Amino acid sequence: MRVRLKDKDFELYIPRTRIDQEVSRLAAEMKEAGIGDRTVFVGVLKGAFMFFSDLMKHMPAGSRQEFVFARSYAGTQSTGRVEMQGLNTLALEGCDVILVEDIVDSGLTANYLAGQFQETGALRVRICAFLFKSEVYRGLREIDFVGIHIPNYFVVGYGLDYEEEGRCLPDIYRLLS
Ligand code: PRP
Repeated sequence: MRVRLKDKDFELYIPRTRIDQEVSRLAAEMKEAGIGDRTVFVGVLKGAFMFFSDLMKHMPAGSRQEFVFARSYAGTQSTGRVEMQGLNTLALEGCDVILVEDIVDSGLTANYLAGQFQETGALRVRICAFLFKSEVYRGLREIDFVGIHIPNYFVVGYGLDYEEEGRCLPDIYRLLS
C-alpha cells in the first residue's frame, strides 16, 4: 500500500496490528519496571500524540499526563536545533518522569528535554520511544523503553509527519527512494 504526501511517495512499513502488539508489550514492560500511580508521563508534541494516547490507556488512573512542544525537523532533515514550548509550566519536582517520544533519531530532542526535566528537580527521568534509530543515535542517555528498532528510514504516520502531512495515518509508512 502506498501514500503520496506533497512531492513524495511512501510505502506501508509497520501495520497497525504490529503497532498495537508493541504498545501492549511496552506497557507490560513498564509496569514490570515499577511504573505506576506516582509516575508523570510527558508526551512530546506534535509527533507523540497517537502513541501517547494508545500507551496511556494501559496506565494506572493515578498517573499524571503532561505535554511539551518540541520541533527540530524541517522537511526530512533535522535542523540541529530544538525549539521548545511548555517547559516552564511543568511541575516535575521530586517526580518519577517518563518522557514519551514517537521517535528518537539523533537523540537531540530527547536528551535535551531529559536534561531540562532533571534541572527542574525531577527525581528520575526515563525515556520511552516508540521508534528508535539506534544506528544514527548520538545521545548519551539510554533509551529505557523502545517499541521498535528501525534503520535510518524517513517514516510518517502514527503521529509522524512530512511537512505536517501524514500524521493521522494509523499505520507507519517509509519514504520510497
Ligand atoms: C521529531 C520527533 C522527535 C524528534 C526526533 O519531531 O517527533 O521529537 O523529531 O528527532 P531527534 O532524535 O533527531 O531529535 P519534529 O521536530 O519533527 O516535530 P513534530 O513532533 O512536531 O513533528
